[in-house]
Amino acid sequence: MFNIAIDGPAGAGKSTIAKDIAKRIGFVYVDTGAMFRSIALYMLNNKVDPNDEAAVSKECPNLDITISYLDGEQQVILNGENVSKLIRTEEVGNTASIVAKYQAVRSKLLELQRALAAKENVIMDGRDIGSFVLPNADLKVYLTASSHERARRRVAQLAENGITADFNEVEADIIKRDEQDMNREIAPLKQADDAVLVDSSDMSVEDVINKIISLYEERK
Ligand code: DC
Repeated sequence: MFNIAIDGPAGAGKSTIAKDIAKRIGFVYVDTGAMFRSIALYMLNNKVDPNDEAAVSKECPNLDITISYLDGEQQVILNGENVSKLIRTEEVGNTASIVAKYQAVRSKLLELQRALAAKENVIMDGRDIGSFVLPNADLKVYLTASSHERARRRVAQLAENGITADFNEVEADIIKRDEQDMNREIAPLKQADDAVLVDSSDMSVEDVINKIISLYEERK
């Protein structure tokens, strides 16, 4: 199996890019953030305080998370319900960043992530894929961009969906999420030693895709 790991902070364009590359090179795209988001959604729906580690951990055995594909798009099934659309809010993303600090939450998803990579050629995106989940990935990319540029893209993306967002609020949220994801004890966001750094601040989506595909072509 050929495994590609794409890590980086929120809003760096990982999912847009990984999804497109997967289509072009015939790989399966695995969005691990969606898995953490589904756990966050469950806690929000069941009124479990995401800051209460013991309470969140206690719920973990009640979670059944599986992945399926519909027209090539990853679907997350949480306790039998397809939650793929419900997890895309800022609230769920911010809550995911909180619960992702806990060992019980990370352990719950680790096996699922490794099992997917063991049976298919995958391009998997997240925070700790190259550094922890798939340490032997054939290609590791750390994709980042300035917080200003990431906020600009996020505001534009929300506008496309008819949502007006305040730029400063969005950038503050992004910086807070970076801090949380980079400074947690277990599997924090960081560039793996053998990952290629791609800073997309001044690159178009197409430039980034071509860069990563050329890295893949060199190594396959
Ligand atoms: O990529 P995203 O915005 O969908 O991820 C939501 C949160 O989930 C992110 O802020 C931190 C957490 N996460 C993680 O801890 N490890 C991963 N591999 C993917 C996401």
